[in-house]
Amino acid sequence: MLQKTVVLVKPDGLQRGLIGNIISRFEKKGLKLVGLKMTRLTDEILDHWYIHHKGKSFFKSLKDFMKSYPIVAMVWEGMESVAAVRLMCGITKGYEAEPGSIRGDYGLSQQFNLIHASDSAESAQKEIDLLFAPGELFEYDKGEYLYLYSEEERA
Ligand code: CMP
Repeated sequence: MLQKTVVLVKPDGLQRGLIGNIISRFEKKGLKLVGLKMTRLTDEILDHWYIHHKGKSFFKSLKDFMKSYPIVAMVWEGMESVAAVRLMCGITKGYEAEPGSIRGDYGLSQQFNLIHASDSAESAQKEIDLLFAPGELFEYDKGEYLYLYSEEERA
C-alpha cells in the first residue's frame, strides 16, 4: 500500500551537515518527496509530538534538544513507506544501530540520533497535521514509478 511518512532531520543532523545525505538516501530508495520545510519546533508542537514520552525522565531534555536548532521536516510517499523508512533509520541507539542504516552509519548517541520517522500511518497523519498546512503537500506524477513498481503495485 502506498503510504506517507514523516521524517525529521533533528538539530544534530543539521549541525553535522547530514541533511543532503539523508535526503539523498530516501530519493535513491525510490521514495517520492511530497513535502519539505525547515522550521523550529515549539513546546506546543513537541508536547503533542512526544505525548507518549510525557512523564519520562528524558522528556524535558528531549524537548530542549529538539528546540535547540531548526529541523528539516519531510513527507515521503512510497510502498509501505512507514516500515521501509524506519528500517533505513535504524534502531534508536546509534551505538547499536545496524551499519548501513542512517543511525548506524552516522551516530553513537541515544538522544542525538539524527532523525525521526513516523512509527505508524496514524502517527504520520498526526505529524503531518502538526507541521504541514494542506497546501504544503504536493501531488504529482513521478515517471520513475513506471520502473519502480509493477502495474499491480501502482494500482
Ligand atoms: P525517537 O525514537 O525518534 O523518538 C523519541 C526520542 O527520544 C528518541 O528518538 C531519542 O532522540 C530520545 N530518547 C529516547 N530514549 C531516550 C533516553 N533514554 N534518553 C534520552 N533521549 C532518549
